[in-house]
Amino acid sequence: MYSIRGPADKGGILPATVVVGAQWGDEGKGKLTDLLAGEMDMVVRYQGGHNAGHTVVVGGMRFALQLVPSGVLYPHITPVIGNGVVVEPLSLIEELDGLAARGIDTSKLVISGNAHLIMPYHQEIDRLTERYLGKASLGTTKRGIGPAYADKAARVGLRVQDMLDEKIFRQKLDLVLKEKNALLAKAYNRLPLDLDGICDKYLGEYAPKIAPMVGDSVGIVHEALESGRNVLLEGAQATFLDLDQGTYPFVTSSNPVAGGACTGSGIGPKHVERIIGVAKAYVTRVGAGPFPTECFDDAGDVLVERGHEYGTVTGRRRRAGWFDAAMMRQAVRLNSLDEIALTKLDVLDAFDSLKVCVAYEVDGEKCLYPPYHQSKLHRAIPIYENLNGWGVDLSKVTRVEDMPKEACEYVSFLAEQVGVPVSLVGVGPARDQFVAFRP
Ligand code: GDP
Ligand code: IMO
Ligand code: MG
Repeated sequence: MYSIRGPADKGGILPATVVVGAQWGDEGKGKLTDLLAGEMDMVVRYQGGHNAGHTVVVGGMRFALQLVPSGVLYPHITPVIGNGVVVEPLSLIEELDGLAARGIDTSKLVISGNAHLIMPYHQEIDRLTERYLGKASLGTTKRGIGPAYADKAARVGLRVQDMLDEKIFRQKLDLVLKEKNALLAKAYNRLPLDLDGICDKYLGEYAPKIAPMVGDSVGIVHEALESGRNVLLEGAQATFLDLDQGTYPFVTSSNPVAGGACTGSGIGPKHVERIIGVAKAYVTRVGAGPFPTECFDDAGDVLVERGHEYGTVTGRRRRAGWFDAAMMRQAVRLNSLDEIALTKLDVLDAFDSLKVCVAYEVDGEKCLYPPYHQSKLHRAIPIYENLNGWGVDLSKVTRVEDMPKEACEYVSFLAEQVGVPVSLVGVGPARDQFVAFRP
C-alpha cells in the first residue's frame, strides 16, 4: 500500500506535506492531491487562482477544480484557500455551485481573508496586454492573474476581507479605479468601468455568498498542525512557471515552488517535512516559452493524442516532448524534492523506443542543469539516451511486480538521472490507477 506518512511526528506537531508541480504544469497535481487526501485532514491551496485546472477522476466522475483544493471530494477534509491565492469570486461561486450540484459538500471550505481579489479590470488588462504584446504575448489564461498579483505587489490590491466592509471596499475601489480607468481609456481606448456596477456585484451578489467562508486561514492551519492533524499544501502551476525560478517572462505571477507553500499558507519552513514533485513521464507546456525537449515530429502528436493534452481550463493544445532530466534536476534543487510522483506512464505504452534528455549541449559544453541565461537555454541542444518501450497496456497494472521490465527500467533510469526516488507511478486518470513504485 502506498502510504503518505513520512517519518514520525516532531513533538506533537505533524509537519506538512507539499505537492508541487515539477515541470510546466498539468502534471497531475490534482490526482495526487486527491489520492493523498484520503489520509490527510486538511488541504491548503497556496498560490495561483482560477488559471489552474486540477483534474480528479473518481468512480467514473471527472472533476476539474480551479480554486477549490483537490481534497474537497472527501467529507473528512477541510479545504483551505490560503492567503497566497488570488480569488475571482464569481468563478469560485460557480465552482462551488457546480460541486454542490454533483453532491459534493463544500461547507467546510475556509477562504483566507488576506487572499487578494481578482477584479474585472484585472481580467480586462490581462486580455488587453496579451493583445498589445502581439507576437511577444505570453499565452496567459487571460484570467487576470498577472495584473492581480501586480496590484498586490504595488499595494493597491483589494483583499477578500475588504468585501466584508462596504465602506472600506468602496473607498479602496474608488481610488484604484480612477487609475485603472485612466489606463483603460488612454492606453487602450476602452470605456471606463463603473464603480457602482462593480460594488453591486462584489458587495451585493458575491459578498453574501463568500462571507460565511472567510476566516483566519493562518490560525486554522496552525491549529491543525498543533493538534497533530495531517496537512497537505497543494501547489498550482509549476516550478518552471514560477515568477522567480521559471523561464521568465513566460511564467505565471506567483511562486508555485515549495517555498511558496510557506508564504502562501502562513507556515514556516520547519513545518514542512515532505515535498513531493509531480512530473509527467514526458513533458508538456501550454503557452509560449522555451521548451528544450519539445517534439515537432509524430512523437509529439502521439503524446498529445494519447495523453489528451488539451488544457483543462482553456482547451488549448499543449506542446509535448520527451522527459527532461536536466530540468528535473533543477526542480529537485529548487523545491528540495524528496521524491517524485511520476504520472501518465501509460501514455508511453505506444512507443517502441523512448528518448530521455540526460543533459544539454550548450555552446559546445555539456550541462547537467539548465543554463541560468535564457539565451543559452534557447540554444540548449538536448543530449538523448534511448530506452526500450514495453508495448503493453499499463492502465490496469496496480502492483510493481506486474509492471513490464522495460517500464520499471524506464522509471528507475529517470530516478537515477534525477537523483531522487520515484515513489508512485500513474497509469491512468482514475484515483486507483497508480503503482506504489520500488525499483
Ligand atoms: P494538474 O493541473 O497538475 O492537476 O493536472 P491536469 O488535471 O491539468 O492534467 C493532468 C491530466 O492527466 C488530467 O486529465 C488527468 O486526469 C490526467 N492524468 C493524471 N494522471 C494520469 C495518469 O497517470 N495517466 C493518464 N493517462 N492520465 C492521467
Ligand atoms: P495547473 O495548476 C499549465 C501558464 C499559461 C501561460 C503562463 C501564464 O493546472 O498546472 P497566467 O494566466 O498564469 O498568467 O499564464 O502560465 N499556466 C499554466 N500552464 N498549467 C497551469 O495550471 C497553468 N496556469 C498558468 O498557459 O503560459
Ligand atoms: Mg492543470
